[in-house]
Amino acid sequence: MTITETRSRTLDSGEKIATNDPASHLRAKRLRITDRGVFVGPLGHLVAERQRLEGLTWEHFDVTRYGATIGGEIHGVDLADDLSDDVIAELRQALLDYKVIFFRNQPLTSDQHVAFAKRFGDLEIHPFIPSNTDHPELVRFEKSADVAGYENGWHSDVSWRECPSMGAVLHAIQVPATGGDTLFADMYAAYEGLPDDVKERIEDMVAVHDYSQAFGHQLDPETQKEMREKYPMVEHPVVRTHSETGRKLLYVNHFFVSHLKGLSEEESDELMDFLCRQATTLEYQCRFQWTPDSVVFWDNRAVQHYANSDYWPDVRIVERASVIGDRPS
Ligand code: SIN
Repeated sequence: MTITETRSRTLDSGEKIATNDPASHLRAKRLRITDRGVFVGPLGHLVAERQRLEGLTWEHFDVTRYGATIGGEIHGVDLADDLSDDVIAELRQALLDYKVIFFRNQPLTSDQHVAFAKRFGDLEIHPFIPSNTDHPELVRFEKSADVAGYENGWHSDVSWRECPSMGAVLHAIQVPATGGDTLFADMYAAYEGLPDDVKERIEDMVAVHDYSQAFGHQLDPETQKEMREKYPMVEHPVVRTHSETGRKLLYVNHFFVSHLKGLSEEESDELMDFLCRQATTLEYQCRFQWTPDSVVFWDNRAVQHYANSDYWPDVRIVERASVIGDRPS
């Protein structure tokens, strides 16, 4: 593109200025700019979902949206209250629509945190991250100079389970002076943005998920064996259909997928790299900057998350309750 392709007008001073953008001739097309597959330009497949979200209205709360297709901050709900079934149902719908919902200024006790999460289903007990609170279902992540954050990779929680969690409710107890944000990626958008030939290739593909990739190194060989019996490798579809929305989404992550079934190691690694990279597309993401007593509830089926580990050696304390989900299909 060159400046000569743009229209221009002359100011009184005699100076010429362009009257349209230098890229106007590209007509909102996506453009491949190098042989290595670097693309720039708009992601048109986000438009329908973005516009759908723009049109939503809510009876019990207001929502401020974050990303194009993901993230909504809920205003006007006190999570410590004994919320009516109607409010819970509407929050559940908001979770399905925005994929992750945020709340500010919610000074919850652990009892209130667990009680709120339980309104959405039974809670999970994590075998590798044992509870360190009064509640078996509540895990405290307490980072400091001695314990750094290791959740800074794109993943969906416990995908190595036969039934991975449907969602997680995370409450900030203490936040660092700067940093420690959590990022979320819309995996429906990630799937929908794939080239047609890739969609066709992965349509019936299965990924093998393995707990030991992320948690194996912290176990002695005997416990590893015991845990392998309890948690054998599981197979989940690469393209998952969300059981509540009916929409297809991309369901692989580098934390827990060991390989794609039926492919050579090289093919599997190459395809996994490509598929997992989709979560890093900024247009699919939103980013949450924590404040003390904020609460985040993500739909663990529809999004992946990444906890930024840029605050060490500062302190960051959050507590998580996870709701048991269904078997991916
Ligand atoms: C997690 O990966 O579940 C933790 C997220 C966070 O600490 O923000």
